[in-house]
Amino acid sequence: MSRRKIGMWMYQNGGGDVIENKLIQGLKEREIETISGLNLRSADAHNGGIFCNGIAMDSLDLYFTYNAGEQTLYQTYLYEILDRYIPIINSFKGFALSEDKMKTNMALKAAAVSTTDFYLCHRDDVENIKATMSDWNAKIVYKPVDGWGGMGMALLENEDDLNMILPFLNQIDIRFLYVEKFMNYDGTDYRVDVVDGEVLGCYGRRAKKGGWRTNVTSGGSVFLRELDDDLADIALRATKSVDLDIAGVDIIYDQDREEYVVLEVNGIPAFATPEQEALGLNFNDRKIEKIIELIDRKTSIQS
Ligand SMILES: Nc1ncnc2c1ncn2[C@@H]1O[C@H](COP(=O)(O)OP(=O)(O)O)[C@@H](O)[C@H]1O
Ligand SMILES: [Mg+2]
Repeated sequence: MSRRKIGMWMYQNGGGDVIENKLIQGLKEREIETISGLNLRSADAHNGGIFCNGIAMDSLDLYFTYNAGEQTLYQTYLYEILDRYIPIINSFKGFALSEDKMKTNMALKAAAVSTTDFYLCHRDDVENIKATMSDWNAKIVYKPVDGWGGMGMALLENEDDLNMILPFLNQIDIRFLYVEKFMNYDGTDYRVDVVDGEVLGCYGRRAKKGGWRTNVTSGGSVFLRELDDDLADIALRATKSVDLDIAGVDIIYDQDREEYVVLEVNGIPAFATPEQEALGLNFNDRKIEKIIELIDRKTSIQS
């Protein structure tokens, strides 16, 4: 078998560069060569193939794309095309599903995994949103379906709040309105890390005082948290339902329904930063090893 060669695009901040080096070293020990820094932003394509930094992407044995920044339409367009010719971790299908909260919720429902109550309608059907709000008899969360880091969301307590944001929403080019029932939870969540059908670890995040979002970018803080079998099972089923090889599943405990509820499934869950490792989040190395095994398996010639 000729030497296997994979492409990689990995985030570099928050210790990502160190993780990348460990991945590359581990792959090398298995005789897999890695070409890093392959950002599809700088790729182009022609009859000869898709090229990035002089590398024929569609001739690689696999592409590992793990960069948390928002991807442009150009990058995702090439991601989708490339996925037809070589294995990609995560697959484009999984990426596209998990990037979209509405599509994710539908996939979770179909797999009988508990998720938030959600409602989607045409941008002009504001009356439907109002009716839903009154049916739920609860606060609602307006969310962009493709947002991240808790950005662009609004907690609406009543119709007046909704009326207040509508002129703003009408100014931006939204296709539809998507809202969720505001879950009655204690302001903490579970982030469960999954690779290749195995749970590798878990930690918690706590919203800042007076806040309702647990995201670190929204002021939330990370803490050590134990995992139980129920949570592990939910995380595995959620990951499978959106076709991801690598996932970070966000789960909260709904105090009204008295059950765990999946909020979203993240396809590019960050590794623990050096500061979080110092706090005791100690599963980076196991996650790296598991990813190396996964890449090894996916690039092995099937007999
Ligand atoms: N329906 C909801 N009910 C209660 N809290 C929510 C709800 N949706 C989101 N949140 C809070 O906001 C945070 C961010 O929401 P999430 O859907 O995970 O979007 P993002 O992709 O921006 O992280 C969650 O971690 C949670 O703390
Ligand atoms: Mg989230």
